[in-house]
Amino acid sequence: MEKFTSVNKAVFPVAGLGTRFLPATKAQPKEMLPVVDKPLIQYAVEEAYAAGIRHMIFVTGRNKRAIEDHFDTAYELENELEVAGKHELLNIVRSMQPADMSFSFVRQPRSLGLGHAVLCAEHMVGHEPFAVLLADDLMAGPPGGQSVLTQMAEQFKTLQQSVLAVQEVPLEQTRRYGIVAGQKTSGRLMKVSAMVEKPAPEVAPSRMAVAGRYILTPTVFKHIRSQQPGVGGELQLTDGIASLMLEESVYAFEYQGKRYDCGSKEGFLEATVELALQHPEVGAQFKTYLKNLKLD
Ligand code: G1P
Repeated sequence: MEKFTSVNKAVFPVAGLGTRFLPATKAQPKEMLPVVDKPLIQYAVEEAYAAGIRHMIFVTGRNKRAIEDHFDTAYELENELEVAGKHELLNIVRSMQPADMSFSFVRQPRSLGLGHAVLCAEHMVGHEPFAVLLADDLMAGPPGGQSVLTQMAEQFKTLQQSVLAVQEVPLEQTRRYGIVAGQKTSGRLMKVSAMVEKPAPEVAPSRMAVAGRYILTPTVFKHIRSQQPGVGGELQLTDGIASLMLEESVYAFEYQGKRYDCGSKEGFLEATVELALQHPEVGAQFKTYLKNLKLD
């Protein structure tokens, strides 16, 4: 097999409607909801950049223009901040677009599933390994440690095969995730032999759930394309990966760190509280506020 040197492209499927957050998401993308002071999508882009990825590919849909604007130059804003001498704020705005990072946008014309969204990016990915990041899952690396995607990129460097981020979930939650089972090959790695999208607990092959981070080889595209619509009548990335396993090895990696399910209100609130506590500007004050809160 040819050797891939590094992962340089990331696909962000961001065309979903975000109905779980209505009315907040009626006129703005769910990926633009801020946790403390940064939109969800920016956390994901920063995670990809930290993992060495430089080309960010967004699969967008209607009403998602705010995402494009967010990563574009805001000339008027920058100019005003400059004139007003607000250099710290200017740095925050400018640091979002390092000179070596590029962005591409492609539309997913209809909600046909995550597998379909990934296929929409195929012509931009080409014959290269690539990452997929679901911005709903906000991933925090361990304190002072590497980001989740960085940990996965390191695994990929040696394995040269697809790597999926996984975590154990309670049995009653298998219905929410892609679930994998397989053979442990070392501490945190497992060679996947079964993968099912959103199984009922009774038929789930394990409790190992796929979190929203993937590093995939380009072989996956033809496997996604050959699938029939699966769960929810949608073309599922999970089914494409299950088919890829017939041709190449696929590994599940138990990452170090914490996942916040920001596609749910509870997860979003947990992320907000925990990240606010770590925030250099407001963390200390917020902690005092929480301590003094009279609960009950
Ligand atoms: C998607 C995937 C699922 C994965 C999950 C992680 O589901 O289809 O396999 O476990 O993301 O968040 P969704 O949450 O979009 O329904």
